Amino acid sequence: MELREGEQVLDIGCGTGMNIPLIQERVGAGGVVVGIDRSAEMLAQARKRAARHSWENVILIQADATTMRAADIAAEVTRAGGRARSDVALATYALSLMQPWESAWETMRELTTASARLGVLDMQRPTGISALLTPLARAACRLGGADIEAHPWTAVERDCAEIRAASVRGGHLQMRVGTT
Ligand SMILES: C[S@@+](CC[C@H](N)C(=O)[O-])C[C@H]1O[C@@H](n2cnc3c(N)ncnc32)[C@H](O)[C@@H]1O
Repeated sequence: MELREGEQVLDIGCGTGMNIPLIQERVGAGGVVVGIDRSAEMLAQARKRAARHSWENVILIQADATTMRAADIAAEVTRAGGRARSDVALATYALSLMQPWESAWETMRELTTASARLGVLDMQRPTGISALLTPLARAACRLGGADIEAHPWTAVERDCAEIRAASVRGGHLQMRVGTT
């Protein structure tokens, strides 16, 4: 996502914060990472991770991204020392768990600047010869609570410009990045 020093990055459905170290490496201490997740247990793990690394620029907010108003999330971010709108927003293995994911996508857009980069990584049924693995992929998604038919990256294609795409693991993993 070509993160730059000093940028503020929003991670929707951040879970235990596995993306945070990678984001930190790029935005540095002058940047900010905002993680949003509805699960207190997941956020507790993310908080532990931030404390372990002594990161002071990580803001973690418990919120349901499909229902909490973007303005209310922005108010919490600014109270915690961040900016209302982020330069970059991403959702990895997250939107397909949210129903309706379109609401979370709109929240992502509302919480980013006018020329932000938005990224979605999510799952679909494998394609080509890898389609043979579809039952396995379906079972894994069902177990994790993800809707394998959601295809949330299509929102990036629809609403963003300068799209970059990647498809790996027999098409099972789809990534799209675009600029608003
Ligand atoms: C499979 S985990 C992915 C975590 C992280 N993005 C990663 O790549 O490691 C999906 C996360 O989305 C969160 N989630 C699901 N529905 C949500 C919602 N409506 N609002 C906010 N977070 C949600 C879950 O609590 C979970 O932590």
